[in-house]
Formats: sequence, C-alpha cells, structure tokens
Amino acid sequence: MNAAIRAVTRKAIHEGFQVFGIERGYLGLIQEAIFPLQARDVGGIITQGGTMLKTARYPEFQDEALQENAYQILKRYGIDHLIVIGGDGSMRGAQGLSRHGMSTMTIPCTIDNDMGGTQYTIGFDTALNTVVDAVGHIRDTSNSHERVAIVEVMGRKAGHIALQSGIACGAEIVLVPENPMPLHEVCRHLKETQLRGKEYSVILVAEGAYKSGEVKEFIKNHTEFDPSLTVLGYLQRGGGPSAFDAILAARMSEVCINTLMSGVDNRLIGYIDGHIRTISYKEAEKLQFPINEEQYTLLSILSS
Ligand code: F6P
Repeated sequence: MNAAIRAVTRKAIHEGFQVFGIERGYLGLIQEAIFPLQARDVGGIITQGGTMLKTARYPEFQDEALQENAYQILKRYGIDHLIVIGGDGSMRGAQGLSRHGMSTMTIPCTIDNDMGGTQYTIGFDTALNTVVDAVGHIRDTSNSHERVAIVEVMGRKAGHIALQSGIACGAEIVLVPENPMPLHEVCRHLKETQLRGKEYSVILVAEGAYKSGEVKEFIKNHTEFDPSLTVLGYLQRGGGPSAFDAILAARMSEVCINTLMSGVDNRLIGYIDGHIRTISYKEAEKLQFPINEEQYTLLSILSS
C-alpha cells in the first residue's frame, strides 16, 4: 500500500495536482483526518509494508447518508478526485461516493487477490513470497521429523494465496474454498503418498476452506499421522513489497492519474494479461478471475 501511496502522490504532484492524504480510510474521511501531502512526505516508505495512512474496517460506510456526508466533506476541502487504494469493500465505498457525485478511482490492493476486474491486486505477490518462504522453513522440520505439516493461509473466501503458493512451494495438498477436498479424501491421499515413499507432506489450508484446527483433528483421528499446525496469520500482511508489487503499484498509479487527466473517472485500475487497464466499477464486478482449476490439477500432478 505504501508503494501505491508514494506513487500516486508523486505522480499527481508531478502533473500539477495538490494532494491530500486521508488517514484510516472512510472512517478518517468522516472524522476529517485529512492533511496535505508533499512529495517528501512519502519518502522512505516504498520498502515498508503496511500503510503510512493507517487503515480501518468501516462497514457502516455502506450507509447512503454517511456517503453523502463524506461527499460534502470532500467538497468542503476542495477535493476534486478521490483515489481509493484498497480491496473490494473499499471499491464499493468509492462506487457509492461516485453515485453521490464524487469523482473517484480505485487502485486494487489486497493480499487476497479476490477483486473482479484485475488478475493481480497489489500485495498478493508479496504475500505469496512470504508464504513460500515460511513453508520452506516449516518443510525443513517436517522433513527431519517425518511429520505432516498443516499451514493455514489467508485469502478470505478465495483460494488464490493457497493455490499459487502451493504450486510455488510444492505443497502436497491444497484446500481451497472454491472446491474443498473432503477431509476423508485428504486422509486417503496422505496414506497413499506414504505408501509411495513420501515421509512427510505439506497441506496448505485456505482460511475460507476449513478451520485448520479441525483439519488437524480429523487427520489425527482418522490416520496414524499427528500433523503440526502453523497459522501464518499477519505474517502474510507485513514486510516490504516484492519487486513485482512495487512496480505494479507504480504502473497502476501512473495510469490512474493519466486517466483522471483525460477526463475519465469512476473506474478500477486493473492488471489484465500484462496490461494496466481501466474498467468501470460495474464491469469490474462482473469480470471475475476465479482460481484456475487446471492449476489445481497441475499441483496434484507435480506433488506426486
Ligand atoms: O483481506 C485481507 C485479510 O488479510 C484477509 O486475508 C483476512 O481474512 C483478513 O484480512 C483479516 O483481517 P482482520 O484481522 O481484520 O480480521
């Protein structure tokens, strides 16, 4: 997120805009936590995870009256365009504000990669790299102790983090919410792999697929394995951005400001087949990129 804040701020200033930062998203907007941002204010943040503007969950912002209030606040501050950096809830907030007359743009930023209109969200690649690195460490112990390792990863209702990191780290089994393998099937698979000479296995559980504690108990009760369980949790949300994410943030921010200057607004910035494109909020909702079932098959072939 910081990489995007920096890129939006500097590109906008370069083009002659005055920039304001808003702390804690829509909550901060309602509380008027609004302050001018200069190019130097975003110095040194590109390699830092998180967001210098802080963030807050604020589901109340679905309320039409709050959105109108926010719109009036933005007008009072003389703000012509609002650039929202966030996930699908943030995009819905931007969509709401645009219905009240605000000019908005959304830059997709969530580790979950679960937004329509884009194949990549900023933060996803960084989270993947973190998971792959962590599983590598866990695998060393699993291998030495000949133990099954269960690793729970984030992703909300989507299996993107689990599937992609599973392919990258060579997990034996990946449980995703889109198509969760039944647990008795998991046990059968583990027994089979043991018969084939595998001394240990890594199982990635997407948080939306199963409660990882229940997976551990089920395996323990239905096989002779006693799996270890690691919940990666907030480890996945921290750390500086991967080069891919930092470059994505720079490219999306550039397109965002250029689009506003061309007189077009109320759009999501998307990454589609290597290109940065803009897409209306309505179209973005319809253009979903769910997990690729073929990659799920590939993973099981490669983990034989
Ligand atoms: O959306 C990003 C995310 O990290 C999800 O993967 C996860 O479910 C959620 O946020 C956790 O957020 P919180 O700590 O607010 O529950």
